[in-house]
Amino acid sequence: MEVKAFVWEPGRLKLLNQLKLPRKEEWLELTDYRAVAEAIKNMVVRGAPAIGCVAAYGFVLGVKYQKEDPQKVYETLKNTRPTAVNLFWALERMQKVLKEGGDLEEEARSIEREDYETNLKIGELGRRLLPEGAKVLTHCNTGALATAGWGTALGVIRSAHRAGQRPFVWVDETRPYLQGSRLTAWELLKEGIPHRIITDNAAGFLMKKGLVDAVIVGADRITRRGDTANKIGTYSLAVLAKEHGVPFFVAAPTSTFDPGLVSGEEIPIEERSPEEVKNCFGCQIAPAESDALHLGFDVTPAELITAIITEKGIVENPTEEKIKKLLNL
Ligand code: MRU
Repeated sequence: MEVKAFVWEPGRLKLLNQLKLPRKEEWLELTDYRAVAEAIKNMVVRGAPAIGCVAAYGFVLGVKYQKEDPQKVYETLKNTRPTAVNLFWALERMQKVLKEGGDLEEEARSIEREDYETNLKIGELGRRLLPEGAKVLTHCNTGALATAGWGTALGVIRSAHRAGQRPFVWVDETRPYLQGSRLTAWELLKEGIPHRIITDNAAGFLMKKGLVDAVIVGADRITRRGDTANKIGTYSLAVLAKEHGVPFFVAAPTSTFDPGLVSGEEIPIEERSPEEVKNCFGCQIAPAESDALHLGFDVTPAELITAIITEKGIVENPTEEKIKKLLNL
C-alpha cells in the first residue's frame, strides 16, 4: 500500500506520527489549527512539500471550520519552521484564495494533488540521469513521508526502481532526527528497494572506494542562482562528491524555489534545541552540562550542484540565468 504522511477529511486532518516511526504506525487526528502548527514545529510531520500541504489544511481548519481570525491562523502556521519555503508558498496561496472569495478546501486539495503529480514528473525526468544498477547515496527523507506522496529525491529512486533500473541506495542515518535510518529505510523496505544504512560520517570513504555512483538529495529552499538549503550534512556531501567526481543531484518541485533570494547567505537557517543533539529519543548521549549547536539545515552553493531536477525540466550546472528561464522570471 502506498505510504501517506497525511490524510484530509472534511474538518479533520490525520497525520502519521513520524516521531514514532519505524517502531509504530500511529495516526493523530487534528481538528484545531494550533495543533497542526505544533505538529509541524515538533516534526510529527516534516519535509518541505509535506509541511506546505499540511499548513494549507491547517489554514482550512482554522478559517473555515473553527471560524478564527484568518490573520491569526496565518501567523500561527507561518511561525513554525523558518527554512522550508513551501510553507510560506502554500500559505500565500491560501491567503490569495481567501481574498478572492474562493474555496479554501479545494485549494488545499489542489496543493496536495499538484505536489503528487509534480513528484511523478520529477521521478520520470530524474531517473534517466541514473545509470542501470546505480549505487545512489541519499540524505534525510525525501520520500512519500516528506511530500504529498511518491517523493522528490526518493521519488527519483522509486521511479528508477519501478522502471526496472535496479537502483541500490546508501541511506545516510541523518543525525539527530534520523530521518534516513528511521524513515527512508522504512519507505525503501515497503517498496522493496535494496539499501544499506550508513552513519553520516561514512559517506566520504564509500566515495573513495568507488561505491557511490551519484548523490541525490531534496531541498528546502533554492535561491534564484541555485544555492540550495537542505538538511544539515548536505553541504558536506556536495564537497565530498566534487572531490571524488561523483554527480550531485538536487530534486525539488518549483514550489521550493524562492525567486526573491539570490544568494544562499540570505536563507534563514533553522536553529533547533541543543537538547535534540544531546539526547536521542529519550536517551541522554552527552553530558547534560555540555552545550551543543543544532543547525537544522545548511546551504550548498550552486557551483557544487551537477543538476537540479524539477517538474519543469532539469537545470544542469545551475546559474541565475538558467533558473530565471525555468521559472519564467
Ligand atoms: O527537518 P526536515 O525533516 O523537515 O528536513 C527535511 C529535508 O531536509 C528534506 O530533504 C527536504 O525538506 C526535502 S523533502 C522532499
